[in-house]
Amino acid sequence: MAKHEQAGQGTGSITLNDNSRQLQLELPVLKATQGPDVIDVRGLYRDAGYFTYDPGFTSTASCDSAITFIDGEKGILLHRGYSIETLAENSDFLEVAYLLLFGELPTEQQRAVFDEEIATHTMVDEQLIRFYNGFRRDAHPMAIMVGVVGALSAFYHDSLDIHDPDQRHIASMRLIAKMPTIAAMAYKYTRGQPFVYPRNELGYAENFLRMMFSVPAEDYRSNPVLSQALDRIFILHADHEQNASTSTVRLAGSSQANPFACIAAGIASLWGPAHGGANEAVLKMLMEIGSKDRIGEYIARARDKNDPFRLMGFGHRVYKNHDPRARVLRESAHAVLREMGSEEQPLFELALELERMALEDDYFIERKLFPNVDFYSGIILRAMGFPVSMFTVLFALARTAGWVSQWNEMISEPVQRIGRPRQRYIGYGPREFIPRDKRG
Ligand code: ACO
Repeated sequence: MAKHEQAGQGTGSITLNDNSRQLQLELPVLKATQGPDVIDVRGLYRDAGYFTYDPGFTSTASCDSAITFIDGEKGILLHRGYSIETLAENSDFLEVAYLLLFGELPTEQQRAVFDEEIATHTMVDEQLIRFYNGFRRDAHPMAIMVGVVGALSAFYHDSLDIHDPDQRHIASMRLIAKMPTIAAMAYKYTRGQPFVYPRNELGYAENFLRMMFSVPAEDYRSNPVLSQALDRIFILHADHEQNASTSTVRLAGSSQANPFACIAAGIASLWGPAHGGANEAVLKMLMEIGSKDRIGEYIARARDKNDPFRLMGFGHRVYKNHDPRARVLRESAHAVLREMGSEEQPLFELALELERMALEDDYFIERKLFPNVDFYSGIILRAMGFPVSMFTVLFALARTAGWVSQWNEMISEPVQRIGRPRQRYIGYGPREFIPRDKRG
């Protein structure tokens, strides 16, 4: 697919009619290779004195990107042109990280070099480890992640020059490689258990599981079913176009902030329940429903306009057909649940029944509400033994691949401009200052 042959300036134009000013303006249309073309409004303020108004950026393209494409109507998610289903089926997380970063799937040799590079950077500076002691034991692991990842800037001075491609490369490797170590340490700290150092002969997910769940008092045996399922979860969360946290990374990076600080900003954004926290809400909901005979009651509540309750894990701002990631995860859930035995089975069966009933319900059909990625991920992660507080941390770990790729793409552009949105001002005009004793 010759994407660059198709992208570029189109012949189309848009005419703006403002009757009060009798204004007609032609704006160029830039062609996309997939999805909607964009209206180039950069000259709008200069030529006509208007800003565009788009709170929440529902219709605004903030950048050019060749990394990820989503067609929400058709339920398509592509990374560098490869469908997420194909990647989940045939690839692994590090290969997807390579693809996101460098644009192509690696050859055998490129992959070996990449693995070696990642392995070289899995450890963190011993001094950094002391940071953990400064946190309360009951700190949320995401609070630790924001702090410790930001603090990497204070340790790796040799990879802070964003204008040097080699330094950008090393910073990217460091972030992808160290994130599992930092995340597992955040968990171990809150548990009061000793930190476990990385083992570079293990796969990415396998190594992370070992750092999370092994203790010095016992031998640790890897479970390939769980490692593979976790690797899949990482693939499915690796990138998702210009979402809130990715846009945060880009905006922070646009001021030429260093990459560690930018990724810490992304983690902060991801922490919000509207972004990374929905799988936790799904679990809470399933536990509240409790048994299959109460599903009908909760579906009725979701349909009721006077009840604020929503079926968590259903619906998506972008996907209006199906969330392709949810389909893949449904399979993984079966595999993990089979492996982990019966304890989690009732919750999973409850989820399957809820899904079945909702998908047959007119309300959900009419509104195109389908299970999203969060519907299954919480169930799988819980069955693997992850506490709920770690769910968003795992998301951040995987999304780091996307964040660094998007950040690199932005910094590699020939022209750098600081991100600076405008506003529609709705406050007072200029007014007189009144001394305090005269106010009342
Ligand atoms: N349960 C019941 N009704 C719903 C749900 C739901 N989960 N989601 C949407 N609806 C209804 C709305 O009430 C609305 O109905 P109306 O047209 O009669 O007023 C209609 O469907 C459209 O809903 P919007 O809120 O306009 O859809 P939007 O695209 O803005 O919202 C969102 C998407 C926020 C994800 C929503 O579907 C939701 O709240 N889902 C539950 C939370 C959730 O699972 N979030 C995770 C998202 S995935 C992710 O972030 C990785």
